[in-house]
Amino acid sequence: MEIKSIGVVGAGQMGAGIAQVGAAAGLAVFVHDISEILIQKGLDGIRKGLDKLVSKEKLKEAEAAQMVARLHKAPRLEDLARVDLVVEAATEREGLKLELFGKLDQLCARDTILATNTSSIPITRIAAATKRPDQVIGMHFMNPVPVMKLVEIIRGLVTSDETTQVTVALAERMGKTCVHANDFPGFIINRILMPMINEAAFALYEGVAKPEDIDTGMKLGTNQPMGPLALADLIGLDTCLAILEVLHKGMGDSKYRPCPLLRQYVDAGWLGKKTGRGFHRYGE
Ligand code: CAA
Repeated sequence: MEIKSIGVVGAGQMGAGIAQVGAAAGLAVFVHDISEILIQKGLDGIRKGLDKLVSKEKLKEAEAAQMVARLHKAPRLEDLARVDLVVEAATEREGLKLELFGKLDQLCARDTILATNTSSIPITRIAAATKRPDQVIGMHFMNPVPVMKLVEIIRGLVTSDETTQVTVALAERMGKTCVHANDFPGFIINRILMPMINEAAFALYEGVAKPEDIDTGMKLGTNQPMGPLALADLIGLDTCLAILEVLHKGMGDSKYRPCPLLRQYVDAGWLGKKTGRGFHRYGE
């Protein structure tokens, strides 16, 4: 089965990134979110990113225009009824994802693959909300999607070989390299990344060092492109907290308990770059 069209549920930073790489791969992309304003915001962000690439002469204006022409608004979930594959990139809340997959299962064609960009919620549980668990798969992109080369592929308990092959082929067509993980909390990337981010938050909480020193220390001391607190701000502190909670609950091990400071920042609405403040301040 060759994928010609995809639906993307969620036009936030991950959804918009997935839509962009889908359009770059020549697919017709249908973008859905809870309001047209959010869909437009996502599409405007993509256009801005493409304009930047054009101004740096990394993309031709005509190619950018072709990509934009492949992006379509899908204000109703029903607008995704005829796509070949849906990538769900909605907020990281289990209840929301289960409801979405139940609805998508009812309205999409029988052979449509339903993929989720979840960063930690069990694929098997999401698949069980549908009558096609063999066609449900984890397709976990990294942030920022247009730049990061990886897609983590996660099979649920009954995901079929065909679903896996088609999804891997799609990710490769988007220019990504795949790694395969089994369906355990946090899969590979967040199982390892989130404890590091959490430990950085604890180091700040316990007064070991200032945010700038923690980040510069890890950046220059361990050759990472950015420090763990800045990376948490990029990912979103609410997303980091949600993933840590899944790890904590799923493993039943106190080593994954979220740092109280992370929780407090999320309570305060300091969600990172997207709100202008997290461990660091951004913009005005
Ligand atoms: N969209 C598109 N392009 C972007 C971008 C974005 N959001 N952010 C940066 N870029 C591009 C820039 O335009 C620039 O391109 P050129 O080299 O062609 O000019 C390039 O990326 C480098 O960007 P910058 O020069 O601005 O800054 P940088 O060199 O510090 O790179 C970064 C920025 C790519 C974000 C880099 O710091 C990095 O790789 N950080 C780590 C990111 C990471 O670990 N992501 C994974 C998070 S885990 C995850 O996503 C999983 C999860 O479930 C939570």
